[in-house]
Formats: sequence, structure tokens, C-alpha cells
Amino acid sequence: MRNRITKAVIPVAGFGTRLLPVTKTQPKEMLPLVDRPAVQYVVEEAVTSGIESILFVTGRGKRAIEDYFDYAVELENELQNKGRERLLEEVRRIVEAVDIFYVRQKRPRGLGDAVLRAQRFVGKESFAVLLADDIVLSPVPCLAQMLEFYAQEPAIYLAAMPVPREEVSQWGIIKGKEVAPSLYLVEDLVEKPAVEEAPSNLAIVGRYLLSPSIFEAISKVSPGKGGEIQLTDALKSLLSRERIYAYCFSGKHFGVGDKISYLKANIAFALRREEFAVPLREFLQELLEEGGKP
Ligand code: G1P
Repeated sequence: MRNRITKAVIPVAGFGTRLLPVTKTQPKEMLPLVDRPAVQYVVEEAVTSGIESILFVTGRGKRAIEDYFDYAVELENELQNKGRERLLEEVRRIVEAVDIFYVRQKRPRGLGDAVLRAQRFVGKESFAVLLADDIVLSPVPCLAQMLEFYAQEPAIYLAAMPVPREEVSQWGIIKGKEVAPSLYLVEDLVEKPAVEEAPSNLAIVGRYLLSPSIFEAISKVSPGKGGEIQLTDALKSLLSRERIYAYCFSGKHFGVGDKISYLKANIAFALRREEFAVPLREFLQELLEEGGKP
């Protein structure tokens, strides 16, 4: 078996309901974190981790993503003519970084169904799935950390992190046995359980290393939570046949799929940028001293 994963799938077909109204006409994946769309951080994580081709599973109203990862001839000519070399390099870098493919999920039927759209692209190889709602900042990218485990032992790997008990119903939750530091052998998975039904507070974060057997599993599961085809349910059905590990990555997680997390992520990302850190810190201080009101 090949111990290297070179393909990744990024599902971007969701409506972004938790971020409405802005997501009515703007894909949530294109909302900026400072000056880059959220999805760019995820693509960069994949590329830095050694991924060579990416499939976006898109849907209606997501064209802006395709345009973003393509050349913009007029803009580039303009930057060139004006001698804005650094900006030119910046807008071109991400276009040239990786081969990108697209497939449409014709109806939004859930994450499991979105992953199923990737079957032809993936073929018989293991592959990675990255969700653009989850951004992880760490010296070694989260996906690269998982791929290191995969290189030693090919299996299914899920990124995980402990969440406060009261938040378990927003996540896929796993029950597992710790087999090595930060590594759990998964014994059960439940998609967005009620607090009293959650087997633990260990949540699945949007990074997965999957084997192609997931496709058959997805095609067999019935609609689950929210009437959708859930990836978590398909993974659960594989438990008796395949080893699934959950890995508590090292790094800081930012959710960008809901308003408060998105706002926090923007502030945190801006504070990490040298050119903004000082003026922004001063401004925030000032605001807080005024009681937070403009
Ligand atoms: C999806 C998965 C869930 C996982 C989460 C991570 O849910 O279904 O198991 O915990 O991503 O972000 P979503 O937030 O897309 O509804």
C-alpha cells in the first residue's frame, strides 16, 4: 500500500446559513480573514502538507472560488504596468501552487454526499478531506501532522479536539481509547449528539484522511442528523472493518462557520500580522476602555 496521500477534497457547496445575510451572494469560504479568503488558508495548509491536487466540491453561487484560484489577466497586467511586483506575486502564488479540479454537488444533501462526489477524482487511493470552516494555525500544519501518522500506519485518521461539554451538539463526537499520546483508537462516533447522549467531549475537526472504502459506506447510509447524508455515520459503519484513529493535533483552532467565531478569528489573525498588531491592539484597548461602544 502506498503510504503517501497526494489528493485532497474540499467541500464548499454549503449555503453558509449561519453567516446569513452576507452569504446570500458571497460564498462563506470567500469571506476574508484580514486580506485572504478563509479557504486560502486551508488550501495553503494542504499544499504545505504535500498535497498535489485538490478537488473542490462546489455548488450554485460558488463561482467566486473558481475565479479566485485562476489567473486574472486584466488585474495582473495592471499590477505589472504599475510595478506592483509584490502584489502581483501574491495574487499569482496561490494560482500556481496546486492543480485544482471542480465538481458540482447538484443538491446540498450533506457532507457525506459531498465527499461521495469525489469518487472519480480519488479513484482507489486514500485521500484527505479538509473543511474550510476549520482553520488551524500551527508550526507544522495540522494535515501534515496527520500524514506523519499515516506514513507510519495507513488507516483512517480524523483530527480531533476537546470541546466544552455544552458545545458537543455542534460537532461530530467520538468515543475512543488513547493508544499513544494524543492518539485515540475510535470506538464510536455520533454526529451532533445531545449533551446527555455524547460519549465524550472529543470533537471531530474538519481534517480527515480517508480510505476509498468510504464511498461505498456513504452510499449505504441513510440520511441522519438534519436529514442529511452524514460522513460521521459512514465512518461509524466502517468501524467493524477498519481502524479509525482520532488525533488531537497541536495548534490553535479557529472556527469560521458562524458569526462569533468568524469575528474572533479575524481579530486573532490580524493581531498575528506584524503590520497590524500594534495599531489594532491600541484601537482595541481604546474601545474596551470606552466600554466597547463606538
Ligand atoms: C461537520 C461534520 C462534524 C464535524 C464538523 C467539523 O459538521 O459533520 O462531524 O465535527 O464538520 O467542523 P458541520 O459543521 O459542517 O455541520
